[in-house]
Amino acid sequence: MYRGAYLAVFCFLGVCQGGNLRRNFYKNSCPQAEQIVSTKIQQHVSARPNLPAKLIRMHFHDCFVRGCDGSVLLDSTATNTAEKDAIPNLSLSGFDVIDDIKDTLEAKCPGIVSCADIIALAARDAVSAQFNKPTWKVLTGRRDGNVSLSNDAFANLPAPFFNFAQLKASFASKGLTLHDLVVLSGGHTIGIGHCNLFSNRLFNFTGKGDQDPSLNPTYANFLKTKCQGLSDTTTEVEMDPNSSGTFDSDYYSILLQNKGLFQSDAALLTTKQSRNIVTELVKQDKFFTEFGQSMKRMGAIGVLTGSDGEIRKKCSVVNS
Ligand code: HEM
Ligand SMILES: *[C@@H]1O[C@H](CO)[C@@H](O)[C@H](O)[C@H]1NC(C)=O
Ligand SMILES: *[C@@H]1O[C@H](CO)[C@@H](O)[C@H](O)[C@H]1NC(C)=O
Ligand SMILES: *[C@@H]1O[C@H](CO)[C@@H](O)[C@H](O)[C@H]1NC(C)=O
Ligand SMILES: *[C@@H]1O[C@H](CO)[C@@H](O)[C@H](O)[C@H]1NC(C)=O
Repeated sequence: MYRGAYLAVFCFLGVCQGGNLRRNFYKNSCPQAEQIVSTKIQQHVSARPNLPAKLIRMHFHDCFVRGCDGSVLLDSTATNTAEKDAIPNLSLSGFDVIDDIKDTLEAKCPGIVSCADIIALAARDAVSAQFNKPTWKVLTGRRDGNVSLSNDAFANLPAPFFNFAQLKASFASKGLTLHDLVVLSGGHTIGIGHCNLFSNRLFNFTGKGDQDPSLNPTYANFLKTKCQGLSDTTTEVEMDPNSSGTFDSDYYSILLQNKGLFQSDAALLTTKQSRNIVTELVKQDKFFTEFGQSMKRMGAIGVLTGSDGEIRKKCSVVNS
């Protein structure tokens, strides 16, 4: 629609950052859109305190797999296994909340607001609920993709056992920097992790029944009281112990005490450059400012804009 006027798309390693996103894209076409998302989210978060973690992780998974195009929301079909049904989907949830918001928006302004934008706004508003004001700006104007492949999730999402080089490469492949990696890992200041995703660090780190020496031994003992063993897929622990319901910079102070839950968290201490960034981000206002900027870059990964893609009527299926 506005392609001519906003051609400032820049591409890095084959990933194009959509320069076409703007503030308040729906100002004329659906003026209440952002308010509707925010009101709905406030209602849902007060009933489900873990929703902020679910939605920000959903946004991250959406953006890293085929760009922020709402593909994470698509259901599998008779002939296709969708991203949702890939192993890394473990514990993704909040789909019902997105559907609820979408229904309200369709009733108000049919065919206008994309599912991809709903995720981006909902994630921001959910995390912001504790502050009673938006914590970062979300640009809008994304359109929805119609492809969702389980194998793409495997290929594009970083794994919790990734080392520093692997994490850096994963983020670089999305046009994100080492700085973005350290800042966005701060998303782990809220939410939970399942034991099987880190318990090798407790029970069999090098295959000799040993513990990860880079993990704080007191914290490791605590985690061992929770996790039943290497294949405990049901027990959840807080990622940011004692503060996993609050969006704050504690993640970084905990990390510096070697209490990062995943190897991918601990990996941020393994180079001087990344460790320096961790140290800077302990300062809460620094973290909040940087987080907003990195979320803006993450939220622009591979977006469909203009006349690309579609505005889905229902977020879990492509338009027929
Ligand atoms: C740097 C690479 C990353 C890796 C390897 C990673 C890995 C993981 C893993 C394995 C879990 C646990 C899932 C479970 O057990 O249910 C998790 C949870 C989570 N991740 Fe990440 N993540 C990364 C980056 C991010 C980013 C960029 C964000 C958002 C900005 C994010 C936000 C979250 C949140 C909020 C949770 C908690 C979800 C819940 O409570 O259900 N992560 N992550
Ligand atoms: C996640 O994927 C698995 C298959 O790998 C599937 O059995 C499960 O239902 C999926 N979970 C969700 C929440 O979609
Ligand atoms: C620990 O790892 C080694 C090497 O991979 C494996 O042979 C052993 O069975 C593992 N131990 C347990 C308890 O799973
Ligand atoms: C959480 O708080 C309790 C009580 O203040 C403390 O004993 C414990 O060490 C804390 N947990 C971690 C992992 O820091
Ligand atoms: C997906 O969207 C494109 C346009 O963006 C369209 O050409 C294609 O036919 C669509 N495919 C399906 C299965 O809807």
